[in-house]
Amino acid sequence: MEVIIAKDRTELAEIAAGIIRAQILAKPNCVLGLATGSTPEETYARLVRYHKEEGLSFAKVTTFNLDEYIGLPPSHEQSYYYFMHDRLFNHVDINEENVHVPMGMAPDPDAFCKWYEEQIEKAGGIDLQLLGIGGDGHIAFNEPGSSLASRTRVKTLTEQTIKDNAELFFGKGKEDEVPKFAITMGVGTILEARRLLLIAFGKRKAKIVKQLIEGPVTSMVTASALQLHPDAIVVIDEEAAAELELKDYYKWVYKQKNAEYQKTLDRLAGR
Ligand code: F6R
Repeated sequence: MEVIIAKDRTELAEIAAGIIRAQILAKPNCVLGLATGSTPEETYARLVRYHKEEGLSFAKVTTFNLDEYIGLPPSHEQSYYYFMHDRLFNHVDINEENVHVPMGMAPDPDAFCKWYEEQIEKAGGIDLQLLGIGGDGHIAFNEPGSSLASRTRVKTLTEQTIKDNAELFFGKGKEDEVPKFAITMGVGTILEARRLLLIAFGKRKAKIVKQLIEGPVTSMVTASALQLHPDAIVVIDEEAAAELELKDYYKWVYKQKNAEYQKTLDRLAGR
C-alpha cells in the first residue's frame, strides 16, 4: 500500500485528481470506479477544471459508481446519481451511455446487482477505483461485518452511517429521511479493480485511517481489505494521518520516490 500524506485537503485533491488525470491520459477509454460523499467533491471540481482548461476528455471513459440508496429516484437531490451529475458528469464530455450508477428504484434489486456485476465484467473490469472511508471503516456501503469476498448486493446501513449521511446530505437531525438500505459494490468487487485510490481528510477520520493502514485486516473495518490489494494508494491529509505510527516513514518513502522521479525527468531532459 502506498501512503501519501498531503499537507491539507487542497493538496490532497490535487494529488487525487492528478492520479485520475494520469489514468485517463494513459488510457482514454479507461473504466473508472467512482465514489460520492464530501471527500471527493474537490477532486471532481479539479477534474472539471482540467476538462475546461486543458481539454481533458472523458468522451471514451466508462464509469461505475460504488453505491446508491434504495428508494431514491435519480432526480432526487440526495441520490448519488444526482450528486455525480451535479459535481462531475454534467460538466465534462462524458457519454451518458457509459455512466453507471446503481439504480435505487430497481424493481428487483437482487437481479439488478447481478446485472451490475455483469456490466463491470463486460466493460473489462475497473482500471482505477476511487474510494472514501466511512467513520465505521466502510468502503462503499460495506458496513462492519461485511464479507471481504462480498459482491454487489443490498446492504442495511448502520445507525452511525445513517447519522453521518443525515448531516451531509439531508441536514442535521433528519435521520428519518435517510434510506436504511443501499445497493453497494462488494468488497470482493472492489478488490478486483486493477488499482485502488482511497482518499480521506480531517481529524474525524484519523482513528479509522490508522485501522485501515496499520490495523489488522478484518471485516469489522472493510477498508482494511485494501492491505490485500497489490496496487492500492491511500492519500490523506495531515489531520487524518495524525495517529499513524509510521507517518514519518510514509513521508520519507514519498520524498525518495519523487526525488527519483525528478532525476529521471532531468536525465531525459539532458540536465
Ligand atoms: C460513497 C461511499 C462511502 C463514502 C464514505 C465517506 O459513494 O461509497 O463509502 O465514501 O461514507 O463519506 P464522506 O466522504 O462523506 O466522508
